[in-house]
Amino acid sequence: MEDTRTTVRVSIEIALAPRATVDVLIEELTATLAQAGMNFETGANGRVSEGEYEVGRVVSWERGERVLLRWRQATWNPEEITDVALRFEQVEGGTLVTLEQRGWGGLIGDPSELAGWFAGEVAAPFLRATAPASFGNWLTDRQARRPSGAQARAVYRDPLYHYPNFRAILAELALTAGDYLIEIGCGGGAFLKEALKSRCRAAAIDHSPEMVRLAQEVNPEVVAEGRLLVQQASADHLPFPAATFTCAVMTGVLGFLPDPVAALREIRRVLSKGGRIVVMGNDPKMRGTLAAPEPMASRLRFYEDDELRQLALEAGFDRATVVRRDLEPHARVVGIPEEHIALFAGADAPFLLAKAP
Ligand SMILES: C[S@@+](CC[C@H](N)C(=O)[O-])C[C@H]1O[C@@H](n2cnc3c(N)ncnc32)[C@H](O)[C@@H]1O
Repeated sequence: MEDTRTTVRVSIEIALAPRATVDVLIEELTATLAQAGMNFETGANGRVSEGEYEVGRVVSWERGERVLLRWRQATWNPEEITDVALRFEQVEGGTLVTLEQRGWGGLIGDPSELAGWFAGEVAAPFLRATAPASFGNWLTDRQARRPSGAQARAVYRDPLYHYPNFRAILAELALTAGDYLIEIGCGGGAFLKEALKSRCRAAAIDHSPEMVRLAQEVNPEVVAEGRLLVQQASADHLPFPAATFTCAVMTGVLGFLPDPVAALREIRRVLSKGGRIVVMGNDPKMRGTLAAPEPMASRLRFYEDDELRQLALEAGFDRATVVRRDLEPHARVVGIPEEHIALFAGADAPFLLAKAP
């Protein structure tokens, strides 16, 4: 067998100081590996495991800036060991991050196979990640469709530009202490914080684990009191029994749903008789505006008022109507900067209102 051992190396320059780069990169790496079923325990005694199998063991952890892992790439050949190095080096204007797999390829055994492995497993995914379809999906997920990362957490913790919608929705819902509200796609829980001032109870779901954690963090007292429950779930499979809630809300979510009728049907299922729903619509006029810029716009569905009403009727709701509300007074109350008030002006924002039969 030819010796195909080599070093595979990727690097990137990032305009951040090394410490800050380490913090972000290790956190994101840990979270992304977890989604792929790999557990990264960081620190001097850290390790990387895949299921029960220990793939990597930290042999050197210099404040996270120089990390060396002993890597066992094959359960069927645990003696085949490589080194993985992750380095963060200060360079002019930022940090050079390098990830290296040293001594790779011993189990591949043929140079052309090694070339094939590199093309299929490294080069093609890298090119795909930097081409429009994948890159546009990444940006859309990251910012809105399944928010993640420090920037999304900061935005959704206190989403100033969503408060005008929240106020309009709250006016329609007219919550009382007797209500039990469900929010679908709650993001960072900012709407819930406002809604729970009515002393109602609430439950919420979001399919982004980071948003679920944030919504809990933003509402610690009501969670501790048992007045708010936030769970990770998908809009079309709500983890609640039928006829549980008196009202439901969904804002900034509808356009992302691949099957909106299925989600609305699920909401109807968990509403009790006469339960009310308010859904913020997204009409085609929003396409390409600050509210729905590219690449998000071409990944969103937009609905005319009549289509919106039709979705609710198809999902089995009664008395479905679409009302238009002027968000400008709300925008002024919540402190939207003067130069952006015009974005909210006009009796224009669509809201679907309906009742469970
Ligand atoms: C644009 S954000 C809006 C968040 C919040 N409602 C607000 O207005 O600030 C959309 C949210 O819906 C969630 N979401 C999108 N599709 C979903 C689905 N199918 N099931 C559950 N959550 C979903 C996303 O994870 C994200 O938190």
